[in-house]
Amino acid sequence: MMIFVLLGVVAVLIFLVKIFDTTDIPKIHGLPEAPNWPVFGSLFQLGENHSKSLSKLAKKLGPVFQIRMGNRRIVVANSYDSIKYFWVKNQAALISRPALHTFHNVVSSEVLSIGTSPWDESCKQRRKAAATALNKPAVQTYMPIIDHESYIAINEILHECQDGKADINIIPHLQRFALNTSLTLNYGTRIASSDDALLKEIVTVEGAVAQLRSASNNWQDYVPLLRIFPARSNEAATIRQRRDRYLVRLLNGLKKDIANGVDKPCITGNILKDPSAKLNETEIRSICLTMISAALETVPANIILGIGYLSSPHGQEIQERAYREILDVYPNGDAWDRCLDEEQVPYVTALYKEILRYYTVHHMSLPRRSVQEIEYEGSRIPAGTSFYMNAFAGDYDENHFEDPYQFNPDRYLGDVDGTPHYAYGAGTRMCIGAHLANRELYTFLVRLIIGFRILGPLNKEDAAILDGMEINARPTGLVVQPKMFKCRFEPRNLEDLKRWIDGSKQRAEHH
Ligand code: HEM
Repeated sequence: MMIFVLLGVVAVLIFLVKIFDTTDIPKIHGLPEAPNWPVFGSLFQLGENHSKSLSKLAKKLGPVFQIRMGNRRIVVANSYDSIKYFWVKNQAALISRPALHTFHNVVSSEVLSIGTSPWDESCKQRRKAAATALNKPAVQTYMPIIDHESYIAINEILHECQDGKADINIIPHLQRFALNTSLTLNYGTRIASSDDALLKEIVTVEGAVAQLRSASNNWQDYVPLLRIFPARSNEAATIRQRRDRYLVRLLNGLKKDIANGVDKPCITGNILKDPSAKLNETEIRSICLTMISAALETVPANIILGIGYLSSPHGQEIQERAYREILDVYPNGDAWDRCLDEEQVPYVTALYKEILRYYTVHHMSLPRRSVQEIEYEGSRIPAGTSFYMNAFAGDYDENHFEDPYQFNPDRYLGDVDGTPHYAYGAGTRMCIGAHLANRELYTFLVRLIIGFRILGPLNKEDAAILDGMEINARPTGLVVQPKMFKCRFEPRNLEDLKRWIDGSKQRAEHH
């Protein structure tokens, strides 16, 4: 009798494991697979830092392998060339994005940002409208906003720097810079003080959303059984309500300004006023959401990390070279203004490219989902498979980059073949804000470098960590969050700097 009960229990267990142990895509023949457990797949091995763990696995399995995360089967590319093969050569097949439970069902309800939307007609229309608003000629018309916001941040730094004697934390200044740039571009609204409650709310909520989008933080996305524990979903629902509240407030504010004829030119205003734009209310909210969330952490993270590097001893050499090269092109002190219209100092362009590569702030880029079968070295990867780009690994691939662990802007001087780095992703769903972001980085770097000598802190314990991976305070997040550091800003020539700031201020008042 006992033996039948035991056999029954074993049969039920096997049955349950079979049910919960299936994957969305069956095992792909011929493609190496990471070691895994029933039900959970490789979630335990991946730990908190997916990019690092996957790079280790790639040493054993090769650059491309399949991995199981709960009931999802994912193909991961870990080298420069393999990323190029899938994301560029097979770009039409990799045009979609996977939907994940926490983010797509709980946080976002019906309003999804462009970067998280699976490919369909609505995503196509939203992407097209946003791309038009972010193309080169459009971005040039936004340069007064960059002029305004960058001078304010630099003026704040000037007030705090005590002539190079104070160790300062620049993170709050740059968060406000990025948020105000996004808000002004999108709604024509800016927040006046770093302490504003709305600014804090947006920064907090968007940070929490990034955590909820993180692949390593949300096991319930991969193991449906875990959804019976509601804590994570409840947190996500609260975040959604808080996010909806400020999105509605900002959009209604703009609509009121338009009705009263006092609105400032901005992307959403143009869409709202354009009778031919075929976007409904939800789609407009999606674009607004995208513009805020896409730039909020990525742009300031790169500027902050770049400043951190420049404050190091090696960074001093890079600064001095950049300074000399700026003066060579602009001997009459007009670099501050001219950087808004043109990008004529190749070394500064090379510097921001190297910052983008070295820190690759989306270590794991954004996930993709294939819509067609792809063949890879004899394996057939079916449509509907999720793909992860280990962008950090691709950007540190020794077969493509010489001395990848060296911070070296020179690698981007002269002709560079193909995609310079994967910081903006690649292919059909590559970042559409790259040009705007590049212009922001260039302007900020030129202005900071001609304005100040950026020095290490007096208290050596506060010096910036220089390792691209170790500087990240939040390995589970979607975007790198720089660990706090301090540095000093010594004005090169106070009179010039004040004059430049004053010029920008006057332009802002007349804009
Ligand atoms: C340095 C700053 C930035 C970095 C490092 C960055 C990085 C990325 C990455 C890695 C992706 C995924 C690309 C892929 O799947 O291949 C992406 C997508 C996207 N980015 Fe950026 N981004 C930055 C700034 C911006 C800005 C300023 C905007 C707009 C204001 C923006 C808008 C978008 C949009 C709309 C997408 C989604 C594209 C799609 O799904 O079709 N980004 N970005």
